[in-house]
Amino acid sequence: MTAGMDFRSDNVASAAPEIVDAVVEAARTSATPYGGDPVTERLEPAFSALFETEVKVFPVVTGTAANALAVAALTPPWGVIYAARAAHVENDECGAPEFMTGGAKVTGIEERCGKIVPAALEAALAAAGAGEVHWSQPACLSLTQPTEMGQVYTPDELAALTGIARRHGLAVHMDGARFGNAVAACGASPAALTWRAGVDALSFGATKNGALAAEAIVLFETGRAADLAFRHKRAGQLLSKMRFVSAQLAAYVADGLWLRLAAQANGQARRLARGLEAVPGATLAAPVEANEIFVTLPRAVIEGLAEAGVLFYLWPETDPQATTIRLVTRHDTETGEVAALIETAQRLAAGAA
Ligand SMILES: Cc1ncc(COP(=O)(O)O)c(C=O)c1O
Repeated sequence: MTAGMDFRSDNVASAAPEIVDAVVEAARTSATPYGGDPVTERLEPAFSALFETEVKVFPVVTGTAANALAVAALTPPWGVIYAARAAHVENDECGAPEFMTGGAKVTGIEERCGKIVPAALEAALAAAGAGEVHWSQPACLSLTQPTEMGQVYTPDELAALTGIARRHGLAVHMDGARFGNAVAACGASPAALTWRAGVDALSFGATKNGALAAEAIVLFETGRAADLAFRHKRAGQLLSKMRFVSAQLAAYVADGLWLRLAAQANGQARRLARGLEAVPGATLAAPVEANEIFVTLPRAVIEGLAEAGVLFYLWPETDPQATTIRLVTRHDTETGEVAALIETAQRLAAGAA
């Protein structure tokens, strides 16, 4: 086995030294608990500058908490949250959005590579029974940026969907577990990809891109902050030693670190995609825009990769005979790791031919 061919997820990534150093620095002194410390207090000015508007920031320690609390800030217990069928809020959060909203309903909408099809959203809303007391009421649209298939919504695509949401009175949430990868990929500003495109609340991920465990709920619709403060506490996310989460977030956004790390991950994904495209029998199942690659390969090659020690997930993960695999690159993926995977796939494909 070639050492280190780990393409399972960006959750396996190391922590960036700048972020570890910031936590160590915050650990040197005592500080006011529950977010009353100077590091946490500097987060809102820093994020407001980054997003070019005044925002409220709630640090949390998982993406699930960020998503579930953010949608709860936007959705009443009788509401419907519309999301892509593949969305994390729909499939991977053990009902946390439903739980944190006090009973709202997540409804999956038709998608293409994770991007919600506007006509399908329109159709779902037209049939939603707004005002009908027997039915859950349309309340929120949740968009994942980049999508679960690594696709990046452009500002225009976002505006088209949020425009539909607005016309039907919905608030808009964005799951940005890999938001840095989206910004680094498309070059639009953080503002253009969020509030200027109609987003009210963002789950801003850092864990997958160099943090130890830190995400932020960024509220553009700041009027929701007072309620969210209580939800945040009730959900066990108001850490007494909040400064250690805040220190990660502060270091992450300082001097563009988050975008440098994301650009490294995206660059390795592009390199890997180019190499895999040249492998006989390989087809990319979706365009490679950020740091996730979905590639269809002969079964013999997939089995050979696993035997050679390459770590990856089948897509869908639940199908042991799947012919598509997901490969994720990280801020710390090395060029040698990518080259070794391409070389292994080439060799296996030549043997299978
Ligand atoms: C799109 C998306 N949203 C949110 C999350 C965050 O989830 P977690 O609660 O595991 O940090 C993930 C992690 O895999 C994800 O891929």
